[in-house]
Amino acid sequence: MSTAKREYKRVTVKSLVDMKKNGEKISMLTSYDYSMAKIVDAAKVDVILVGDSASNVMAGHETTLPITLDQMIYHASSVIRAVERALVVVDLPFGSYQSDPKEALRSAIRIMKESGAHAVKLEGGAEIKESVKRILAAGIPVMGHLGLTPQSIYKFGTYTVRAKEDEEADKLMEDAKMLEKLGCFGLVLEKIPAKLTKLVSESLTIPTIGIGGGKYADGQVLVVHDLLGMTHEFNPRFLRRYMNLYEEMGKAISNYVSDVKSQDFPNDDEQY
Ligand code: KIV
Repeated sequence: MSTAKREYKRVTVKSLVDMKKNGEKISMLTSYDYSMAKIVDAAKVDVILVGDSASNVMAGHETTLPITLDQMIYHASSVIRAVERALVVVDLPFGSYQSDPKEALRSAIRIMKESGAHAVKLEGGAEIKESVKRILAAGIPVMGHLGLTPQSIYKFGTYTVRAKEDEEADKLMEDAKMLEKLGCFGLVLEKIPAKLTKLVSESLTIPTIGIGGGKYADGQVLVVHDLLGMTHEFNPRFLRRYMNLYEEMGKAISNYVSDVKSQDFPNDDEQY
């Protein structure tokens, strides 16, 4: 059952701020290819994130660090071709924006121009302030990402909950306010205590989107392969699986194998 308060034919960055104002929660989900994005968009997910988690789920890397800008553009343009309603946000990958603001702007422009995406997402706070400013000044909508930022995994050392201590929580709050002031249209909060998500969400007019950030975020995001149970080794507490596709797909594929071996497939009706 949908509890949308208003119909949006096309979701824009402005729609998201309106949703927050109207108390309507925002749904966000990843997609990396045309076929999946078609399904996700038809199910009326508000925001599709072409996440650099493609590095893990699509390419099998251990971290998000190896994926390149060209690869992100390939995934994003496949998604864009499928989408009619959702706002499509694309991650700037590791190494495409950290060295200087000019490079950050060049990378964001490539994503917008070559894929047709609607916005970009960057990880970090004060450290990337100048890059965020520069991208926004070019008219490109920016979403922030604070808390557990997987591109910094080797600095953190583990994927555990962030900002449990006051010092880190205070910095996160400052960064969140700064990103809002610069003009970001939304903010992903990953793996932080629910109480902190509440404080941040109540302090901002732009929406917060949680992943492992608890129920007080203005919206939620998950990796679509996790939600569908296509991945089965990743079991964080925040993840709700709506299907067990790993098992379902495995069964279907082994049925196909045995039908081929037994010469049951193809039958007379399945040939020309
Ligand atoms: O890359 C990604 O999928 C993300 C989400 C975890 C928010 O950044």
